[in-house]
Amino acid sequence: MATVIDGKAVAQTIRSEIAEEVRALSQKYGKVPGLAVVIVGNRKDSQSYVGMKRKACAELGIKSFDIDLPEQVSESDLIKQVHQLNVNPDVHVCGKKCMQSGILVQLPLPKHINEEKVLSEISLEKDVDGFHPLNIGKLAMKDRDPLFLPCTPKACIELLSRSGVSIKGKKAVVVGRSNIVGLPASLLLLKADATVTIVHSRTTQPESIIREADIVIAAAGQPMMIKGSWIKPGAAVIDVGTNAVDDPTKKSGYRLVGDVDFEEASKVAGWITPVPGGVGPMTVTMLLHNTLEGAKRCFE
Ligand code: GUN
Repeated sequence: MATVIDGKAVAQTIRSEIAEEVRALSQKYGKVPGLAVVIVGNRKDSQSYVGMKRKACAELGIKSFDIDLPEQVSESDLIKQVHQLNVNPDVHVCGKKCMQSGILVQLPLPKHINEEKVLSEISLEKDVDGFHPLNIGKLAMKDRDPLFLPCTPKACIELLSRSGVSIKGKKAVVVGRSNIVGLPASLLLLKADATVTIVHSRTTQPESIIREADIVIAAAGQPMMIKGSWIKPGAAVIDVGTNAVDDPTKKSGYRLVGDVDFEEASKVAGWITPVPGGVGPMTVTMLLHNTLEGAKRCFE
């Protein structure tokens, strides 16, 4: 049976470490890190994610600046707002009581707004999501480092390393090629000296490729797509999928499942993350960690 990686517990440990550093910074410099969280429209999933991010900031002593914009906001007004956050005196200016060292624009944005354009306008030094094209570009280059790593891929690597799974020289397969998870996760694994293959919706016979992997990062958004028989015995399996499936036995009428068939795969894998309680709590924690790192670069 696999060791089940408890993402909630690891996240709690890291959050305590961050809270301690925030306390120490505020004692030393008389100011705390701040994070601007921008949301456009009323998508239920985005509101729930943003709510978790703001609550986590409050719990750790990081100031969150809440910017809620209507669905109809124009691209140019959203960009104006980002520019204001880039230059706001509270934003990344040394000597202030609060330093808003991070800006996060929750994705997806409404269809009439070009996400790429908006993300490109965020100050590089405050890009705590790591989605600015220059930060992503550096992630893709040998011997260069972005100022921030994207949160979900960073969470996957942190879970592997805190579980004692070494990456160097291993065969890693990433399932999914999204800009938010699959692609940056594969680049991070490459930086950590894994031999990386990306499997995606057009890959023929993905199971034969996944079966070779010492490390699997599943980020396809397909409920329980990866079967136990696809997993190499002893492999480390990190499941990023968070899929709601109907479940009449639940009060809510649904339950969350990952991209991996946990029951089958946990009998074969060496390590596995559950859904919920695996990568999810770690992703928000990595955002807070990035926010702290951004603040420290300016404070110190
Ligand atoms: N939407 C889904 N995941 C993310 C994320 O990590 N950051 C942002 N900004 N939006 C998201």
